[in-house]
Amino acid sequence: MKKKRGVFLAGNWKMYNGPGAARSFLSKLVERVKSSQTIEKAIMEHRLVVALFPPALSLHVFREGKEMFPFLKYGTQNVHWEKEGAYTGEISVPMLQEMACDYAIIGHSERRQLFGETDIAVGKKVCACIAGGITPVLCVGETLEERERNSTFEVVERQLTEALKDVSPKDVLASLIVAYEPVWAIGTGKNARDEDAQDVCRHIRELLSRRFGEEAGEAVSILYGGSVKPGNVEGLLRQADIDGALIGGASLQVDSYLEIIEGALKVLA
Ligand code: PGA
Repeated sequence: MKKKRGVFLAGNWKMYNGPGAARSFLSKLVERVKSSQTIEKAIMEHRLVVALFPPALSLHVFREGKEMFPFLKYGTQNVHWEKEGAYTGEISVPMLQEMACDYAIIGHSERRQLFGETDIAVGKKVCACIAGGITPVLCVGETLEERERNSTFEVVERQLTEALKDVSPKDVLASLIVAYEPVWAIGTGKNARDEDAQDVCRHIRELLSRRFGEEAGEAVSILYGGSVKPGNVEGLLRQADIDGALIGGASLQVDSYLEIIEGALKVLA
């Protein structure tokens, strides 16, 4: 089997871990990472990326601690495409830049399903991020009903096509991460089987290669998300087209997030 070039781990905290909890999580994580030479080494050698996506109100804790934990990357769970304006409740790319964010999750299924986010809005957000030097983590994935109707590939293709309509091959090469998250696997404890997740991730890579060229398709990191936990991360990461994981529940506690990091290290070894 081909050796992994690297693994990207992204912890999506959703609406958990306010500033107080974020601060204690980070100090515990930093202490544990510093005492493990293997984790630090893998990060320094760019074989492993460890990122967290806290609620926006906790971002300043990451910003303030950036010097203390330069190994840790972070970003937001959403962003508006306009730079500023009368958009109550929204945050913009310049605000993310001020917080020194590396990434933004775009089009998470909870945003699509609970907040009516459309493919068109997702596309605008992706473009705004790329223009502002924030790497989008673009989420795609089918519902249970769509899977049972055998339309997984079709759904993922529509979501990708809309979201990347105005994106160039150069943008894809420099700045794009895609997360395949089957909606039925999110927060349910039921993850996709390794080979099913691999099939969809390979399909995503083929679509990207077809649209943006082989080099761009190969360069994009494709993550799997949906009930990733210490017990299943290794099998998923061993799949050829799965370059990392988007982790919700299991990223909320330092211990389980660290166990996932350890699992990734085994795959990299
Ligand atoms: P989960 O969430 O790991 O709790 O299923 C994943 C996600 O929503 O990104």
